[in-house]
Amino acid sequence: MKVLLTGGIGYIGSHTLVELLDSGYNVIVIDNFYNSKPDVIDKVKEITNKDFKFYEGNICDKKILEKIFNENNIEAVIHFAGYKAVGESVKEPLKYYRNNLDSTLTLLEVMKKHNCKKLVFSSSATVYGKPESLPIKENFHLSTTNPYGTTKLIIEGILQDLYKSDPTWAIAILRYFNPIGAHSSGLIGENPNDVPNNLMPYILKVASGEYPCLSIFGDDYETHDGTGVRDYIHVVDLAKGHVKAIEFIENNIGIDAYNLGTGIGYSVLDLVKTFEQVTGVPVNYKIVERRPGDIDACYADASYALEKLNWHVEKTLEDMCRDSYNYLKHN
Ligand code: NAD
Ligand code: UD1
Repeated sequence: MKVLLTGGIGYIGSHTLVELLDSGYNVIVIDNFYNSKPDVIDKVKEITNKDFKFYEGNICDKKILEKIFNENNIEAVIHFAGYKAVGESVKEPLKYYRNNLDSTLTLLEVMKKHNCKKLVFSSSATVYGKPESLPIKENFHLSTTNPYGTTKLIIEGILQDLYKSDPTWAIAILRYFNPIGAHSSGLIGENPNDVPNNLMPYILKVASGEYPCLSIFGDDYETHDGTGVRDYIHVVDLAKGHVKAIEFIENNIGIDAYNLGTGIGYSVLDLVKTFEQVTGVPVNYKIVERRPGDIDACYADASYALEKLNWHVEKTLEDMCRDSYNYLKHN
């Protein structure tokens, strides 16, 4: 089966690319390197010993998408491409709406024209806003607190409307919880260019000595130790979820959303302590004020993905910390 990955050189895309190539898929990738680097292409080839076709370009540009669909018999698309920095989306909402919505609409129009109606979409646990209870199930009320999250919610709505208009589409909406970790080779991983907003990339900066200290945003949350609780998921487990979703939409039309998380919530201090134990590297931290917009706790009920996609996680928090650190050492 020929699968197109948009944004396939990014953090989650590159790990999914490895899993698809290892599973024997014929993969085509487009990325504009807005938030990734060209050397990932060779690193994925080195890991898998397999080749894939790559196009450099922006998927808001219909011409390049037409070219890709004309030159390749694309049967399914995994749509990762998008901007993802929550804080930046608050400051520059139009930039986020333009890129995330324009790219998706252009992609869907070209897919429809070429009668390619199988899609996996990267959504986020951010669409649950402040959840009414835990663990979070797919049928919970959806709301958002920032423009980035709103782009995800709008796109989910667009996909529902598209399916209503033509029920021969097969669409899997994947709502990721908190991906961390890296490929065990240490060749690919997450490498933010700017000061990281997310916890694990920040821990890595402190562990490497680049930053002196981690600021823990609040220790007065209603959690077991007062620090925020999240559902951290190893990026390789997450990538494998995409292979399962592709297998599912290959044979089933319809539209459905799936939580991809472990179902276990760990606190900021749990993550820091586990990182220190696994790597032997101390992580200096101080407790500071809460970050505006943060919630106490967020973790998935991932039973629907198990039931429908036959997907479950295999890796532990220790694996996530070890592999993140291994990637840091390689880079
Ligand atoms: P990433 O930034 O590492 O990867 C996205 C890739 O898309 C990058 O390589 C970027 O260059 C490319 N891209 C962006 N706009 C493009 C465009 N218009 N045309 C072509 N390429 C474009 O991000 P990621 O962490 O791999 O996330 C992938 C997807 O998953 C995103 O849609 C993101 O919103 C979503 N998501 C990520 C997380 C997370 O914590 N990483 C959580 C939930 C959802
Ligand atoms: C963030 C995004 C969310 C996105 C998710 C995964 C915000 C408000 N939300 O959520 O939309 O879906 O990433 O990409 O940005 N923490 C610290 N110190 C730090 C960084 C984080 O204490 O320097 C804490 C946070 O308060 C939180 C936990 O670590 O309790 C995880 O934070 P983070 O990695 O940013 O993820 P989310 O808050 O879940």
